[in-house]
Amino acid sequence: MPVNPERFRATFDALTRAGATPAGGLSRPALSELHLEAREAFRMLSLKHGLDFRVDEAGNHSAILPCYEPEAPTLLIGSHLDSVPNGGRFDGALGVAAALEVVFALRETGKPRSVTLEAIDFTDEEGTWISLMGSRAAAGMLTEDDLKSPRGHPEAFQEALERAGLTRAGILRASRARKPLAGYLELHIEQGSRLVDTGKDIGVVTGMVGIWMYRVIFHGRADHAGTSVMTDRLDAAQGAAEFCLAVRRTVLERFPDCVATVGRMVFAPGAFNIVPESVTTYMELRNRDPGRAQELEDALRAEAARSADAFGLGLDFVFQESVRPAAMDEETCRLFEDTASRLGLSHRRLPSFAGHDAQSMARLCPAGLIFIPSVGGYSHSPREYTRWRDCLQGAETLLGAASILTGMG
Ligand code: HGY
Ligand code: MN
Ligand code: MN
Repeated sequence: MPVNPERFRATFDALTRAGATPAGGLSRPALSELHLEAREAFRMLSLKHGLDFRVDEAGNHSAILPCYEPEAPTLLIGSHLDSVPNGGRFDGALGVAAALEVVFALRETGKPRSVTLEAIDFTDEEGTWISLMGSRAAAGMLTEDDLKSPRGHPEAFQEALERAGLTRAGILRASRARKPLAGYLELHIEQGSRLVDTGKDIGVVTGMVGIWMYRVIFHGRADHAGTSVMTDRLDAAQGAAEFCLAVRRTVLERFPDCVATVGRMVFAPGAFNIVPESVTTYMELRNRDPGRAQELEDALRAEAARSADAFGLGLDFVFQESVRPAAMDEETCRLFEDTASRLGLSHRRLPSFAGHDAQSMARLCPAGLIFIPSVGGYSHSPREYTRWRDCLQGAETLLGAASILTGMG
């Protein structure tokens, strides 16, 4: 049974309407009104196609095709509907649309199946609040501490939880560790240019890097921007700017196997005419090896101290959270490769420098992830684009692998 192209396109369009931006991307951070609107579209599609619909206590949304064997395991196929601010249209949403299409197509065969099929949309993959929140909750990887003060804004997090009808206690109860799982499959855009550069249709992901996140805060003194003498100032912006440049320089010169980014700077009080009293920089670093990441953290702590000292500033270097590196299941990788070959699609293995829900699910069951090409390698911006032909090929590969794992192939 092939993918139904019209139905798959209609599902993708329905899931990418809420939060669509004029530039052709999506902007619907986790638990925002627009994200909840996209999740309602998921619920409507599930019911329209005769599936059971369920939301767990972490807000993960599922469309379920039950197998009536009482102890039958579940095959999960999923991704995420939340986006980064002003992000792209395909990151996550394409994978959720493909997961639904796979369940719709397998349901249509009417064949007996040995497992329950579940398409799942995980909450907050992008870490608007907590990175991979929904899938880490499902894998039982979150602690009370993780939920205390996400991104340093506990009140805003509480408001978002209430908007979505969630609680911290509920999120901690969402673990699926004791439920039999046959595996987890995910389709995602590559968000880089290796598939395009090597002319491959399908990327079989071998594993994902770890991500370590920090708030690095430079403390100065608020002063009048006009009357305070330039050389007397304790200007927090100077330390933050120096640190930002040092992050890039340190990685390029000493840690070429890593990446590090300062993605946000918040000035306080934040006005034209006040010398900044404090600047909070949001910095993250990535590598496949936690030991190497620790070495880079140590080097960046030293750079932050040097930048603060140079301008007479105070410094807080606060570890925020981390996502562990993970390897994908070897058998699932081979299943994807065999399926792609059977479909006449070229493929290659590659590691992922992006984080994905499959990284959490790998803690629970055999997990596999495939990529399809990103034109120009762009992502996390409205420029993100994947040709529809590649989306179809990715969905066919996902369907082919799922049909084998459910015994319906
Ligand atoms: O940041 C990431 O790697 C993913 O897009 N959440
Ligand atoms: Mn994603
Ligand atoms: Mn993303």
